[in-house]
Amino acid sequence: MSDDTAPQQRMILYGRRRGRPLRKQRSGLLETLLPRLEVALPETGRLDPASLFDRPVRDVWFEVGFGGGEHLAAQAAANPDIGFIGCEPFINGVASLLQHVEVLGLTNVRVVPDDARPILDALPDACIGRAFVLFPDPWPKARHAFRRFIGPDNLPRLARVLKDGAELRLATDDRQLSRWMLEHTWRHPDFAWTAQGADDWRVRPADWPETRYERKAIEAGRRPVFLRFRRRPRG
Ligand SMILES: C[S@@+](CC[C@H](N)C(=O)[O-])C[C@H]1O[C@@H](n2cnc3c(N)ncnc32)[C@H](O)[C@@H]1O
Repeated sequence: MSDDTAPQQRMILYGRRRGRPLRKQRSGLLETLLPRLEVALPETGRLDPASLFDRPVRDVWFEVGFGGGEHLAAQAAANPDIGFIGCEPFINGVASLLQHVEVLGLTNVRVVPDDARPILDALPDACIGRAFVLFPDPWPKARHAFRRFIGPDNLPRLARVLKDGAELRLATDDRQLSRWMLEHTWRHPDFAWTAQGADDWRVRPADWPETRYERKAIEAGRRPVFLRFRRRPRG
């Protein structure tokens, strides 16, 4: 077993779950809106993602680590016929997403206020049409590399739940992480990089809303990369 994989298999969640105390309105949303949108892990068997939504959905898209939820909310507003599942263990981020959901009146968002991995493992094979992992924590120290979300443990998790031809979108402003994510995803037999032209991965596509981390990166003078992969058809 390589050093890359061992500790993550115990599914320890790294990173913080709480930040500053929440304003009253946001903590209120955690009590009133979250229980209506929260996805519970099934005790046994698989979770049918389409059944989570009140109305039939054309497809289900999945975001890992939505942060403040700007991207997820904008995607959900732009694609009302798609059901969205977003996972974020940082509760201040969850409260921020809930505010977007309320302000925009979104009915096609469901929330996992926790680690994405157990819910990914509870989904059936080939049920997700698009997945987003945007500006994941870079964990710059070599000894922490196994904590990076995109890597040997989670790429098979994502490949299993993605439909044939589904898109996996990754972004980062960290050079080391961009090389790491590209190398691991490129090498993975289930994914193909869809870059067209030399600079394709430098430009955020029009249907890819900005995230808070992207904005912070650009303000700080860092240039993000936007990587798009296709889930190869199953044999
Ligand atoms: C650097 S932030 C980026 C947030 C957002 N995507 C953005 O671009 O603004 C990374 C986020 O991933 C979340 N995260 C880390 N590990 C996770 C996991 N296993 N499942 C779900 N979210 C995770 C963290 O809590 C954090 O909010």
